Amino acid sequence: MLLIRRCLGAQRHARSAAAARLWSSSSSSSSSSSRDQRWRHRDDGTSWKHGLAGLLAGTGAVLAYGLHRQKAEQEDKSRVQTIEKASELPIFTQEEVSSHRRLEDGVWVTYKGGVYDITEFVGVHPGGDKILLAAGGDLEPFWALYAVHKQKHVLEMLSAYKVGELSAQDRKKQQSVAPSDPYSSDPERHPALRVNSLKPFNAEPPPELLTDSYITPSAIFFKRNHLPVPQVDPASYRLHVEGLARGVLTLSLEELKTRFPKHTVTATLQCAGNRRSEMNKVKRVKGLNWGIAAISNATWSGARLRDVLLAAGYGPDVAKWALHVQFEGLDEDVTGTTYGASIHLNKAVSEDGDVLLAYEMNGEELPADHGYPVRVVVPGTVGARNVKWLGRIRVSAEESGSHWQQNDYKGFSPGTDWDTVDFTSAPAIQELPVQSAITTPADGAAVDRSSEEVTVKGYAWSGGGREVVRVDVSLDGGETWQVAELKGGGTGDAPPGRAWAWKLWEVTAPLPAGSRELEIVCKAVDSSYNMQPDTVGPIWNLRGVLSNAWHSVRVEITEDESEE
Ligand code: MTE
Repeated sequence: MLLIRRCLGAQRHARSAAAARLWSSSSSSSSSSSRDQRWRHRDDGTSWKHGLAGLLAGTGAVLAYGLHRQKAEQEDKSRVQTIEKASELPIFTQEEVSSHRRLEDGVWVTYKGGVYDITEFVGVHPGGDKILLAAGGDLEPFWALYAVHKQKHVLEMLSAYKVGELSAQDRKKQQSVAPSDPYSSDPERHPALRVNSLKPFNAEPPPELLTDSYITPSAIFFKRNHLPVPQVDPASYRLHVEGLARGVLTLSLEELKTRFPKHTVTATLQCAGNRRSEMNKVKRVKGLNWGIAAISNATWSGARLRDVLLAAGYGPDVAKWALHVQFEGLDEDVTGTTYGASIHLNKAVSEDGDVLLAYEMNGEELPADHGYPVRVVVPGTVGARNVKWLGRIRVSAEESGSHWQQNDYKGFSPGTDWDTVDFTSAPAIQELPVQSAITTPADGAAVDRSSEEVTVKGYAWSGGGREVVRVDVSLDGGETWQVAELKGGGTGDAPPGRAWAWKLWEVTAPLPAGSRELEIVCKAVDSSYNMQPDTVGPIWNLRGVLSNAWHSVRVEITEDESEE
């Protein structure tokens, strides 16, 4: 064994270099450390370091690779076949593998019956030393959570570290305790949803359904999960409120419902990555390729966060030192890291902030995908801070330390790339900018000349409670404009600064004579006279967030030849 180990040691350097080459042929890096230099030089200049660091921390960047199950499984199968090919490498027992848990002893892992010495790789693993959690054991449970690992180049890279086969007996044992799919208890979803990623589940409704009703039915409300949906027993559910002088306030679901007045708010949620696909067309960005429907509008009911914080001991003295309210979800990755985010304390305690600990959505208990039994609803604030499956609230002087608060959901200059980005230099996104999009007609649709007019529909919304006051629509690419009719929820005007819900809009206009094609464009204006930028280029950013340029669709005008 010693001999084998020496030989293996001598081969390590070559293998690491080969693996790094393999990786860098489909990836790149961002940091300036020499370690990271080995991960540079991807064609599009993006960084796998941040992406994969996020992966292991359970980040949204996990989804950056937009894996679709079929594709991943096919690729996985073909690679696994390669990896499983009979080899002349030595056979190791699980006990031998398990003795390689520390860098000093060499770090070994198994994957589908192969044994891999990844000691050299630990130092360059984009997800940092979290890889050591798998040391001496099987990679399968870790990869089951983050399908992104099951890509051709990752499997090729792993093959470069192969040192042997696991004994047939141990392989059998491993198979008998093969990890169950962490997503197996995810709920059923509506078939109309357009799926961006199955595991974790991320999907948006088709645009034509999105604006059929002012309130989006929960079944087709966009869904954005970073991790498996946790199964929460309502009877044993407890919400912990920490950081205040009276100590920890622990509330059952029943107490949350009965001790505090029920408050109802209609609020639009929008993901920071809504319309990312348009940024991708300008230059590749990292993240799920959302269309125009990572946004939806619902009625939420629950206790006000303000009331719960007051009951927990919040008072003027707290405002002297505290600046943030942190939230922790009950969804967690294999390392036990939970989803987390924070908002500013003044939003949380403001009477006009309308922040809810919601237990109902559209008049029914929260669906599993939307945070059952309790989620935070932070009206006017980016979706990422609306923490689902809420387990813990903490009043603090600091922001949430979570990956999603610190290293994701931030905006950067179009000139910032993965080699220069410094996530500490930008504030976490809270309020979102003014937004609008056309849901009907669809891009590429045809309108018959005989219909003489075209009806254009869409949505418009702005963050921070700023009301949309106007939507301009053009049929000629922005040369001439007309004002659309705005449709609220029929409940009258929202109080100033508390317009949390979107407006649907509509305009019917005659088809211009002589045109064979229309370029229909929309742009919204909010109560602060903020307007959408006209093009994507100047707002492009490497994570593809805050995509709110004028939205446009091209429509062909067809002539019925028989009538001529
Ligand atoms: N909360 C938890 N616990 N886990 C998550 O993955 N995703 C966030 C937020 N809250 C998330 C979460 C993001 S990025 C968005 S956009 C919204 O939930 C989406 O909410 P929805 O799925 O109800 O539309």
